[in-house]
Amino acid sequence: MSMNDKTAATVSEDFGRLADGSSAKLYSLVNANGLQAKISDYGATLVQLLVPDRQGRLADIVLGYHSLADYLTDSAYFGSTIGRYCNRIAAGRFTLQGSTYTLATDAGGACSLHGGKQGFDKKRWRAEYLRDTLHLHYRSRDGEEGYPGNLDVCVSYRLTDDNALTIDYRASTDQATVVNLTNHAYFNLRGEGNGDILQHRLQLNADTYLPVDAKMLPTGELRPVADTAFDFRQMSAIGARIDTGDEQLVRGGGYDHNWVLNKPATGSDYALAARVTEPQSGRVMEVWTSQPGVQFYSANFLDRRRPGKSGVPYGPRSALCLETQHFPDSPNQPHFPTTTLLPGDIYRAKTAYKFSLK
Ligand code: BGC
Repeated sequence: MSMNDKTAATVSEDFGRLADGSSAKLYSLVNANGLQAKISDYGATLVQLLVPDRQGRLADIVLGYHSLADYLTDSAYFGSTIGRYCNRIAAGRFTLQGSTYTLATDAGGACSLHGGKQGFDKKRWRAEYLRDTLHLHYRSRDGEEGYPGNLDVCVSYRLTDDNALTIDYRASTDQATVVNLTNHAYFNLRGEGNGDILQHRLQLNADTYLPVDAKMLPTGELRPVADTAFDFRQMSAIGARIDTGDEQLVRGGGYDHNWVLNKPATGSDYALAARVTEPQSGRVMEVWTSQPGVQFYSANFLDRRRPGKSGVPYGPRSALCLETQHFPDSPNQPHFPTTTLLPGDIYRAKTAYKFSLK
């Protein structure tokens, strides 16, 4: 197959061996402008994303590893699909239709994070390439990680010719359950391994955010961003206010909060959530989503544990995550938009990361 052939996008490579002896794969998507994404069926993970700068030079703008072995043992969720419930559920417990469910929690028991011990990021997905889209399927069994109901999930990646990486999510269940899916890509628009993101400029289309308690769980309040370090309604450098001593920022070691996205007057669910610009390279990323919230995480907990793809270990604030999602702990916060999925209903969500230059 020639590389100019559009179907070359189906090209897959071996990515390494899983504990059960099977091998994970890496699938490539390319678009007409030379953007390229590599996605693994392990964790439905975005492993690489090549995007040009002002001079037309491609750089890989997502953090991650070359080898599957690193993904198997790492806990940063680089580029992973997160489920069944991304972000936190207080005390790893929730009640649904009169039954209480218990999930694996972190060591202190404060919460269940990102789906539990073996979330969707640690599963092998079934890959299917149709037209220009990579579909990844996973069946999460009733009781897996403590969640009720067999859940069939499909995550679809596509690289469009207007330079957007789109991620579509679908799920259905045979029992009432809770679902909150996201992608946990860590972006550095200067290129992964190329310094911190404090000079990146960010705009978030949100008038309120969810403050957290000492355990990093939302208190339930929707707090106006006005006159706080959380006001990104106008473009602002990420580093401008990150170390101002704000109690919320001290709790997170930086930004690690969910913003409540403003919805357009048109009533459409799908809207521009965020815009990021990187002055040196000229790269611009817009985030469009149908989700009600976005977790902006300034990678505060990265600890230079091991070298990333370019050989440079990733430290705190060497990337930013914009994880589009429903609000954390929604199953225990009745006034948050519901994350309950019932049999017969379909969970749908869509996010696009769209690239341009400035
Ligand atoms: C959370 C952080 C967490 C990180 C990696 C983010 O979504 O908000 O608190 O450290 O994921 O697990």
